[in-house]
Amino acid sequence: MLIKKFVKSLPITYELVRKSIYKKKAYKLDSSLTKSKDILETLLKDGIAVIPSYYDTETVDNIVNDLYPSMEQLSKVEKDAVRVLDGQFRLDNADLKNKYAKDFFDDQDIYDIAKAYVSKDVKSEFRIADYSNKIGAFGRSDSWHFDDIIHRFKAFLYLSDVDERNAPFIYLVGSHKDEAWRYPQEHIYWQHDLDGSLNCFHPHQVERLKTKFGFKEKIFTGKKGDVILVDTKGLHRRGALHEGERLILVNYFEV
Ligand SMILES: [Fe+2]
Repeated sequence: MLIKKFVKSLPITYELVRKSIYKKKAYKLDSSLTKSKDILETLLKDGIAVIPSYYDTETVDNIVNDLYPSMEQLSKVEKDAVRVLDGQFRLDNADLKNKYAKDFFDDQDIYDIAKAYVSKDVKSEFRIADYSNKIGAFGRSDSWHFDDIIHRFKAFLYLSDVDERNAPFIYLVGSHKDEAWRYPQEHIYWQHDLDGSLNCFHPHQVERLKTKFGFKEKIFTGKKGDVILVDTKGLHRRGALHEGERLILVNYFEV
């Protein structure tokens, strides 16, 4: 056991693990799979791209009206359908419970971008609704973090207008690339069995990354109906909820 721990702690061990993970799960970029070349280009450069007003107000209102009863009854529905994080409620399989939300999760154009950016074999693995209504709550998503060692592609749909006070998504633009600055933290995360409290960066570390690599912190305020496409290997966090509430749909794509 001690020997295993020691071997896991060696940087060379992580280097070998990282290479083997990448061999199996490396992204296979294929721009021919999407017609949205400009979006793909922005994703490759920044790690994030916004499609404003992807859905009109009527479509969003249909989703919200269909979804709200489920969100409000979160505490009453079966345990495995609900995950309560610090100040956030997450409804799994949101597509099965809401016919309008299903259209977003099955959207062919977004799926094509995911295939082009990730791999032709990418699948929509998790389809959740995420609801924040606890003013001032501070949870794991509110610290700077990466989701995984490998790239992870997500599509968000804002279902309400989001300004700086309504828990906007915040991203460190350009931090999604596989570069050496991230390996020590990734190693710690992997070494401790992907413990979700160890994929975080302190604010002063993020400041240093901005200075050293020119990464820019960007707050993604937006309107209901906006879609955000993002590689969450890049550092990101949820902004604090100072007022109101925030309801979004999130489609997780994985190979
Ligand atoms: Fe995250």
